[in-house]
Amino acid sequence: MNDVTGMPQTAVVLGGTSDLARAVLRRLASRRLHSIVLAGRDEAALVEAGKELSSLGVNVVQANRFDVRETMLHESFAANAQQRLGSIDLLLVATGMLGTGDLDALDAENVANSVETNFTGPAAAIIAFVNVMRRQGYGRIVVFSSVAGVRVRRSNFVYGGAKAGLDSFCQGLGDALSGSGVELMIVRPGFVRTKMTAARTTAPFAVSAEQVARSVVRGLEQRAEIVWVPNVLAVVFAGLRCLPRRVWRVLPE
Ligand SMILES: NC(=O)c1ccc[n+]([C@@H]2O[C@H](COP(=O)([O-])OP(=O)(O)OC[C@H]3O[C@@H](n4cnc5c(N)ncnc54)[C@H](OP(=O)(O)O)[C@@H]3O)[C@@H](O)[C@H]2O)c1
Repeated sequence: MNDVTGMPQTAVVLGGTSDLARAVLRRLASRRLHSIVLAGRDEAALVEAGKELSSLGVNVVQANRFDVRETMLHESFAANAQQRLGSIDLLLVATGMLGTGDLDALDAENVANSVETNFTGPAAAIIAFVNVMRRQGYGRIVVFSSVAGVRVRRSNFVYGGAKAGLDSFCQGLGDALSGSGVELMIVRPGFVRTKMTAARTTAPFAVSAEQVARSVVRGLEQRAEIVWVPNVLAVVFAGLRCLPRRVWRVLPE
């Protein structure tokens, strides 16, 4: 059950080794989060992430293995996670991969992999957890979208296109869930310094994982539906969305 301040006490994290997810969990650990399922592909890295959370007082129930593209397993994974935790207050969806937007490097396989990792896999997993949460009568879902999906750039159109799909899916799902007791919050960070972006040149309005975590927890407190990080990107993208395509396509990265 969420505590009296609305903060989750149990959580499932898809992408349990994500730098952003770990920053959010560190913050929630100081707000009475007590039990958690960390799900991911890299067991050694999950153990490492789990140790850090245990040292902060969280009871970590390690998931064996979770690949977001294996959609046939999502229903049983969600049911199993609920069994382990008793009830699931929070689902945090942090799986994702940047990949490439370089036309010379793209083929059918790596485009499908990106869309499965960034859109169809997370969407299928979210629905599996929605079904569990609707049965338990409540729950909160936090999904990492991206400004990359708000207006898609030519340089990373595969990632951006997939995030646009996930973001739209979550907006519609959030509306469909209205009144059900299950709530969904979309988080739209800009450039964040994490291992995902380590090889990239820092973009304007860059923030740290800790700044994103602060915004996520504030969003949970305020029962926000959409959180931009930093906030100013909501205004920036309101303008960028209106640019004609001939201008948008030649804007510097
Ligand atoms: N960093 C940014 O600038 C930024 C900006 C906007 C949005 N975001 C989004 O925020 C989320 C977290 O990103 P991050 O910055 O924390 O990056 P990260 O540290 O690289 O985390 C990405 C996570 O996705 C997991 N993952 C990738 N493919 C997977 C698969 N097939 N099955 C299961 N897990 C998989 C990774 O686990 P493995 O160890 O198994 O690969 C890792 O835990 C992502 O959705 C990302 O798109 C990031």
